[in-house]
Amino acid sequence: MAVSIVGMAALLAGLPAAAGEARNFDAGWTFAKGDIAGAEQVATPMADWQKVDLPHDWSIAGPFDQYAPATGSGGWLPTGVAWYRKSFTLPAADKGKRVFIELDGVMDRGGVWINGMHVGHRPNGYSSVRYEITDHLKWDGDNVISVRADTTAQPASRWYAGGGIYRHVRLIVTGDVHVDGHGTYVTTPKIDANNATVKVESAIINRTTSEKTAHIEVSLTGPDGKPAGTFKGGTLTLPAGRSVKLSAEGAINNPKLWDIGQGNLYTASLKIVSDNSSGSGGETLETDTATFGVRQIEFRADTGFWINGRNVKLKGTAIHADGGAFGMAVPLSFYERRLKGLQALGVNAIRTAHHPFSPEFLDLCDKLGIVVMNEAFDMWTVAKNPYDYHLFFTDWSSIDARDFVKRDRNHPSVVIWSIGNEIHDTPYPVVAKSIIARLKPIFNTEDPSRPVTMALFRPNTSGDYKNGLADMLDVVGQNYRENELTQAHKDKPTRKIIGTENGKNRANWLPVRDYAPYAGMFLWTGADYLGEADRAGWPFISNPSGLVDRTDAVKPIGWERASWWAETPVARIGRRVTEVIDTSELPTMVGIAMPQPKGPGVLNDWTPADQAAHTEKVEIVANTPEVELFLNGKSLGRKPKNADDSAIKYDVHYAPGMIRVVGYDASGKVVTQDELKTAGKPAAVRLEAEQKSIARGFDHVGYIRVQVVDAKGVRVPDAAHKLTVSVEGAGQLAAFDNGSPTDSTVFSSPVRNAWNGRALVMVRAIDSKGAIKVKVTGEGLTPATATIDVKE
Ligand code: GAL
Repeated sequence: MAVSIVGMAALLAGLPAAAGEARNFDAGWTFAKGDIAGAEQVATPMADWQKVDLPHDWSIAGPFDQYAPATGSGGWLPTGVAWYRKSFTLPAADKGKRVFIELDGVMDRGGVWINGMHVGHRPNGYSSVRYEITDHLKWDGDNVISVRADTTAQPASRWYAGGGIYRHVRLIVTGDVHVDGHGTYVTTPKIDANNATVKVESAIINRTTSEKTAHIEVSLTGPDGKPAGTFKGGTLTLPAGRSVKLSAEGAINNPKLWDIGQGNLYTASLKIVSDNSSGSGGETLETDTATFGVRQIEFRADTGFWINGRNVKLKGTAIHADGGAFGMAVPLSFYERRLKGLQALGVNAIRTAHHPFSPEFLDLCDKLGIVVMNEAFDMWTVAKNPYDYHLFFTDWSSIDARDFVKRDRNHPSVVIWSIGNEIHDTPYPVVAKSIIARLKPIFNTEDPSRPVTMALFRPNTSGDYKNGLADMLDVVGQNYRENELTQAHKDKPTRKIIGTENGKNRANWLPVRDYAPYAGMFLWTGADYLGEADRAGWPFISNPSGLVDRTDAVKPIGWERASWWAETPVARIGRRVTEVIDTSELPTMVGIAMPQPKGPGVLNDWTPADQAAHTEKVEIVANTPEVELFLNGKSLGRKPKNADDSAIKYDVHYAPGMIRVVGYDASGKVVTQDELKTAGKPAAVRLEAEQKSIARGFDHVGYIRVQVVDAKGVRVPDAAHKLTVSVEGAGQLAAFDNGSPTDSTVFSSPVRNAWNGRALVMVRAIDSKGAIKVKVTGEGLTPATATIDVKE
């Protein structure tokens, strides 16, 4: 099978700004599990291999197995060797050009062959890698690329890491003078009320045998899509075989600033133009584009984080990269839904725990105006699992770090780098300090515009504040133990401080809220994630520490957070119970929340198991100055917001019906409300499609919320009916989930139980027009249908 790549150029997803011509290379692969002998050789037959398009995470297909080598850390999902191959031809017009293959993530230890020739190997499954394949290409017939992905050695990760070529792949075609890797770097060194200085720098390598002279020409496009200025740099000599940085500086008048919640983006289109002997411009040798934002950021020792002259508390969550039921091959629409959901709770910052995410994830943060702490590593030389990256750290970390910072440094969303999470080398300060002394300059050199931190692990135990290690960082980051970090600042007020990872309790929030130097915090975690279920044990497949579950349904703890963080009015009703399954968290000895099968918590329903008269402990989480609670229309009184952000409590004599809260602003106007109704017996399935129409393609997913409801349409909160989904017409089932951390049904299954009376159907278009018809049936329930159209 030969897939011509002519015409695919630059029209599909997964094309970040790249030098030369970037062509999506995701379609038309074949895949086989197992370490097939000779799989890299062109002659090895692959007729029985499965056809796949990338991104492709083979592990998420399951099954979940309580004896899986990856253990609960890896979500009990399968691991091993997988091979991917693709045949392709190149157009004759490319002959004489240079061709590179770029892969954004191969899990794990990816090896790449072209026509049987090995072109590269990268142990780190989260790194974007680029290999030149020019010299191995055939121009008179098919070429074969083979990729080996290997997750055999286990346990190797503390969370679900996926398997295979789980991110986008592209070909990059350039001339002999081209941008050297991710060599283009755009900064805005000076910004004032009316003007921004834009500096564009691009490392250009001259692969010809003769010296060249060239300059850089830049044209800018503004957030409105209109031209925003042009400028050019001075001529420089590019000696043969050498890489030289060309640069140019220009200005933007009245720049539209990038800011939190405001994804104003500019594009710089670059041309590298040769100079002829008379000094005037000649041939265009290379082109590139870079997206950037105009914004001023600063961390200050006395007042924390500043953006565009405003002092803002970073209200962050860490998240893992998995897309729930999609595993590690995550459609953009999944990330977008998740990030918008977190923003609605007041989250303004994300920490990429604990490795490079995909470039398009950062594009999304740029677009949505979310600030990012971009993290490189979870371990250095000391293992957290026997087969994790510590095996490769010494040889590869400088390379991985440099590639990472160069790839991501143009994203305005990124405001700080983290060189490690809870690094277990710090008890050996001689080792740890020498690693910081090696890694940090890589970040500071490739990107002088942002500070470097790391998520210190029990710094007072390893002596990081006393032995100078903490002060090697531009911003001191510490996980948990908020009062210790405050003290470290009081001991030395010149320290800039940030909570790199924090608990979700009020006791973790208040020290950050009330201490100005604290730049902000990152909760563990924004969303439930696959894996890290080893301590909870089977049948936990995912870690339930999120503000939202795997399907992004907001948990009570998420509404509580919204009452502390959201800038829009919030008032939500919960009732405190002693036994709540899966959503509870109990502190462990280090103050870190771990999932517990059962414990106390809050439920957002008005359907207690006990329907007789009794007292319900109702807790209102609200950010309005005053709230009023009503039961079946009767007021139970007004109460003010508590200054210490604790919930507003009511003892309510239970009666079935409707409980309702309203939130009043300072002038006494109702600005928000919430109501809960008592559910009767389960009667029907209710479907709610979140979109009217979706486009076709990997990134486009239709989300249909499923609820088990009573005869009046009220969700039955403990309904766990077996549900069956069928999808007809122009689409197919992409995944079916219910968010339960203990349900080990594979996500491709059309049959799954409801959890808390809920589930989520995810569909993709398979035709370019028509309607996707979804039907969900449940035992003893009236079935329901929903339709999503395919956008042409
Ligand atoms: C932290 C760690 C996170 C996660 C969390 C679990 O110590 O940095 O990756 O493991 O604990 O609560």
